Amino acid sequence: MIKKNILIIGSSGGIGKAFINFYRKQDINNKIIGLSKTDKKDKESLDAHHLIDLEDEQSIENAANEAKTYGPYQLIIVATGALHGDDFSPEKSYKQISAKNLKKVFNINTFGPALIGKYFIPLLDNQNPSVLSFLSARVGSISDNKLGGWHAYRASKAALNMLIKNFSIELNRTNKLAKVIGLHPGTVDTRLSKPFQRNVPENKLFTPEFAAISMASVISNLHDNESGSIFAFDGSKIDS
Ligand SMILES: NC(=O)c1ccc[n+]([C@@H]2O[C@H](COP(=O)([O-])OP(=O)(O)OC[C@H]3O[C@@H](n4cnc5c(N)ncnc54)[C@H](OP(=O)(O)O)[C@@H]3O)[C@@H](O)[C@H]2O)c1
Repeated sequence: MIKKNILIIGSSGGIGKAFINFYRKQDINNKIIGLSKTDKKDKESLDAHHLIDLEDEQSIENAANEAKTYGPYQLIIVATGALHGDDFSPEKSYKQISAKNLKKVFNINTFGPALIGKYFIPLLDNQNPSVLSFLSARVGSISDNKLGGWHAYRASKAALNMLIKNFSIELNRTNKLAKVIGLHPGTVDTRLSKPFQRNVPENKLFTPEFAAISMASVISNLHDNESGSIFAFDGSKIDS
């Protein structure tokens, strides 16, 4: 295994932390850099950490300038995202849609990742294979949508999936060694899913460790023509 420069954006999250632990265990020599909104204490397993706020373009640009020092990166994982917060939760009906909540959810799940593309794609290795992975969600698939609801979250992830496809097309022209993909982690026991775990069968609620190992396997088994695709944790493709 060749040692890698790995950047985890959202290093404070349940899945972000599990990725850090996985890649640290995989090779002690991997250089792992973390970016997160909050300055969490458990940063020992990182080689460097900087702050980033996806709702603030200047902060994203500053974080990219800091991260550049440790690159180029063979792997960047964007493990940020929001489904609910202190003052918002997913809508059960169109009647609950509000512009304020839509903006909040799109800022974090779509506009922030779009700006990550802008500032971090240039940090991908262009001499060796590299992968930019965004955590998306199966509920962002339009063809898979049988339940409705969760308007802002679903729409923000559907739009993220379009950005992933767009980035892949542009990267295919500018850095043929780079792939960009979306990943659905399954339902994972983290802060994001906590309020919605009641109806999830026990064997369908994954630990962050299982999700990270599964998605790392998807990342390392990508084929050349699969850039722009959205994958579930088990390697199956999710249609848009
Ligand atoms: N858990 C699931 O069941 C599930 C299912 C499908 C998809 N996903 C996706 O997986 C991804 C990771 O979620 P998770 O389960 O690990 O949730 P989590 O534990 O709540 O982590 C969310 C991460 O997003 C970060 N974040 C939120 N707002 C931010 C902002 N403005 N700027 C920078 N970072 C921000 C958080 O940072 P702070 O902690 O520093 O605030 C945290 O690192 C998300 O994209 C989510 O949509 C999760």
